[in-house]
Amino acid sequence: MKVGHYVLIGLFSMGFISCTSSQSKNNENNTNSKNNIEMKFEKVALPYATNALEPVISKQTMELHYGKHHQAYVDNLNKLVVGTKFENADLETIVKESDEAIFNNAGQTLNHNLYFTSFSPDGGGEPKGKLAEAINSKFESFEKFKEEFNAAGMGVFGSGWVWLAKDANGNLSIEKESNAGNPMTKGLIPILGLDVWEHSYYLDYQNRRADHLKEVWKIIDWNVVSERY
Ligand SMILES: [Fe+2]
Repeated sequence: MKVGHYVLIGLFSMGFISCTSSQSKNNENNTNSKNNIEMKFEKVALPYATNALEPVISKQTMELHYGKHHQAYVDNLNKLVVGTKFENADLETIVKESDEAIFNNAGQTLNHNLYFTSFSPDGGGEPKGKLAEAINSKFESFEKFKEEFNAAGMGVFGSGWVWLAKDANGNLSIEKESNAGNPMTKGLIPILGLDVWEHSYYLDYQNRRADHLKEVWKIIDWNVVSERY
């Protein structure tokens, strides 16, 4: 009696698992349908609490920047790609091949995914391994690299990004980009990108972009960033 009872439970469980698996497959298919396309692109998960980067970046800035601005780029992108040749493309392909509104929102989705994963409350210090060697080789020292990077960040007129990027041979360069620009559009690979849109620093530093750029090095997660090289 007891054994039969377990057999019934087992059969029921198998059927249930099969049903769940089938539903899951249908859901995956639906994810790519026009009705559910809004689920295609998502924000990267924050690897720290929204107040973890204080005082360099406040909780309020994080909640607005990650919670509102980044979310809006992702939501806009998911709506804009419906019915276009980018509907089933991956994010990097869209950034490389699109223009206008789709490019702007795809670029900002990719840029912010890279940006928010470049920080840690235990960050700061200097890069490691091959990236450290490449920075010293290209810029003479880490301090000189930071000076040049910050100067480039100050040189971005209006909204944009300053990037450390590498080419196919591993040669580093600092790239200034306007608006949603990403060095991928030049055939380069982004290593570190700092957001110099006012929404990234205005609540904490008002108009003092230079102060923000000076402070932000204290929270760079070089473990993550060095792995991108
Ligand atoms: Fe931003």
